[in-house]
Amino acid sequence: TERTFIAVKPDGVQRGLVGEIIRRFENKGYKLVGLKLLKPTVEQAQQHYSDLSSKKFFGGLCEYFSSGPIVGMVWEGLGVVKGGRVLLGATNPADSLPGTIRGDLCIDVGRNVCHGSDAVESAEKEIAFWFPEGVVSYNNHSEGQIYE
Ligand code: GTP
Ligand code: MG
Repeated sequence: TERTFIAVKPDGVQRGLVGEIIRRFENKGYKLVGLKLLKPTVEQAQQHYSDLSSKKFFGGLCEYFSSGPIVGMVWEGLGVVKGGRVLLGATNPADSLPGTIRGDLCIDVGRNVCHGSDAVESAEKEIAFWFPEGVVSYNNHSEGQIYE
């Protein structure tokens, strides 16, 4: 089954939005298979966002991402990489629609409360990076009500 890496960023943790963000993924029907609170080092932030290393906001992004605890999660489900990005909303909250996490909960692109993997391949990389110990596989009793 497809998996994605979702993180509540330091601003989301500080603002007490962890439960709200988890609730939206749970309510959708995705299955939580990994969950941890951690404080990334700057080096971990740089590696996580290495695709953006040429951007002018890279330094600030990595400083912000490593400034406080984040909640790293792995969610599983049919099409969860794309579906998870739909729940998050557009990168810039100025463009994210109401009903999405960013559309409902934040204002500034530099403080957009959450991260979600952008492709199946990057999800696999990010999960291996943040959850080297692996995730937890289990049967969810409501799977027959969520999938045909
Ligand atoms: P993530 O889920 O965090 O990876 O966001 P994304 O995939 O929607 O966007 P992208 O990977 O391109 O950018 C990563 C993060 O960098 C964004 O979530 C923003 O917090 C930040 N970012 C992106 N573009 C800008 C920008 O133009 N200015 C600033 N200050 N931050 C930006
Ligand atoms: Mg991204």
